[in-house]
Amino acid sequence: MFLQVNNISVRYGKAEALRNVSMSVDKGEIVSLIGSNGAGKTTTLKSISGLVPYYGGEILFQDKRLNGVAPHDIVKMGIAHVPEGRRVFSSMTVIENLELGAYLRNDRASVARDMDRVYMSFPVLSDRAKQKAGSLSGGEQQMLAIARALMTSPSVLLLDEPSLGLSGRPDRFGYQQPGCDNHPDRAERSHGVAPVASGLYPGAWRDCTGR
Ligand SMILES: Nc1ncnc2c1ncn2[C@@H]1O[C@H](COP(=O)(O)OP(=O)(O)OP(=O)(O)O)[C@@H](O)[C@H]1O
Ligand SMILES: [Mg+2]
Repeated sequence: MFLQVNNISVRYGKAEALRNVSMSVDKGEIVSLIGSNGAGKTTTLKSISGLVPYYGGEILFQDKRLNGVAPHDIVKMGIAHVPEGRRVFSSMTVIENLELGAYLRNDRASVARDMDRVYMSFPVLSDRAKQKAGSLSGGEQQMLAIARALMTSPSVLLLDEPSLGLSGRPDRFGYQQPGCDNHPDRAERSHGVAPVASGLYPGAWRDCTGR
């Protein structure tokens, strides 16, 4: 299994947020986490990214144990997280935000190629490349947050509330390419729910770009 969450539990102080949660994601698979407010979707994604401590179980990525691994090392291993609420660096430009996404990479040629691909997928970001991220619309900031995560060259993309505030058109997500099934709307529609779920889109970038 590509990514495996086995029986993890999370507490925030005395409050129990997750109890014995398990899930698995295979390569090329799209998994949507669906639940009511407070169900623990964000906490599950944060656990995978190493942003909250969990206990009682383990998380495996390509058979490597992620327990206790630092968040920046988890990014290096190929897991990118787009947090809910479009956390872009608002006083930095669009291009600076994208460059930060590639901060841990030293393969300059492929970084440049990914930058081109991101601009092809999200043309509005290319138009606004030198504009401060804080001056983008909410939906444009969400596109930037997704694009910045793609600049890490991930093999797993964790998207928390990816379509919140975006129009319902799937092409607004940008990374729908011909022949690509991995876009959030389709995943969420297939579960018959409003597009508010957290989701895991492993290999989305690779699948969509044919890389
Ligand atoms: N930093 C925190 N401190 C204390 N409790 C927290 C913290 N973060 C989350 N919680 C609690 O943990 C539980 C799970 O929250 P989480 O944010 O994972 O839910 P969610 O499924 O993402 O909800 P939503 O759909 O509203 O985004 C909730 O009861 C929440 O109040
Ligand atoms: Mg949440």
